[in-house]
Amino acid sequence: MIETSQVGIGHAYAKAILLGEHTVVHGTPAIAFPLPALPVRAVARRGTSGYVPDGHLRFVAGQTDTGTRSGPHVAVDAALSRWGVAAGPVEVTVECEIPLARGLGSSAACAGAAVRAVADLFDHELDLAALYEFVQCGEQVAHGRASGIDASAVLAAGPIWFESGSSRPLAVGLDASIVIADTGAAGSTAHAVAGVRAKLAADQLAANRLLCEAADLIAAGAHELAGSTAGHAVALGKTMVAFQELLAELGVSTPGIDTLVSAALDAGALGAKLTGAGLGGCVIALTWPAEADAVSAALRHAGAVRTWTVSTDSLRAAPPSLSDTRPERDRKL
Ligand code: PMV
Repeated sequence: MIETSQVGIGHAYAKAILLGEHTVVHGTPAIAFPLPALPVRAVARRGTSGYVPDGHLRFVAGQTDTGTRSGPHVAVDAALSRWGVAAGPVEVTVECEIPLARGLGSSAACAGAAVRAVADLFDHELDLAALYEFVQCGEQVAHGRASGIDASAVLAAGPIWFESGSSRPLAVGLDASIVIADTGAAGSTAHAVAGVRAKLAADQLAANRLLCEAADLIAAGAHELAGSTAGHAVALGKTMVAFQELLAELGVSTPGIDTLVSAALDAGALGAKLTGAGLGGCVIALTWPAEADAVSAALRHAGAVRTWTVSTDSLRAAPPSLSDTRPERDRKL
């Protein structure tokens, strides 16, 4: 017999890509990190309480007649069917503090939290590899052909080096700050990825040159992130700016992104670039800790609808335990 509790709880976090978005779809590595400041919490319970599903943030899993399903819904259905546990519907509610469609991994984080909540509900052991696989099932729906960088980063305990579908932790030696600024414009990952694919396919020679250049920048970025001198921070800033130029060449920057990148650099940032799929979404800027407030203010002045600042120091620390949901599990919700 399957042990169940009344309610299952799961968590995950937003992510930001430092280097390698888009080119990772075409075989380069990428560097990303979770953002514990932007959490997602999911609650799963058996049965239905008659609330109105809205696809992404509230859905009823474990049913056969589901029609069009969101990424998180697909991820949970994949888990339930693999485990063979759902003898009836399972209601999932996701409380997401991550702005949607801004390149911060909201779809993967919602899916990760939802699958963790359902595993908790059914007392099912869930290892990271299985969780990644379920989240990826959802990401394929949300993004078309997802590289896996989002699924890996939202489940990670710190910065990761992602390559060919697997990830490893990355060392952080820098003492700097990263300011994330929201352009306020929603971007479509599927649309941006399709545009880049078409662009690369149009000129194979230029594509190879650009992807080699991207791979060199990403490798340099990992080395610079691990370094502890001021020179490493300055070099990482330059690497970010060079990567932004490649992304602009790929057609995923916008006037809104360009304005924020320039504003950050004019305010003293060491580097700035879009993060995620682009065509809207967010910009990240690397700054000295003492300059972070000024860069953040400049980004807002230039039109950012909100900003968040994280220290590279906080990237070293693992986020609060993602797997240990026990303290909350018996709370009546
Ligand atoms: O969905 P986003 O904005 O977090 O971007 C995902 C990163 C891409 O490289 C653009 C797509 C992918 O699957 O790697």
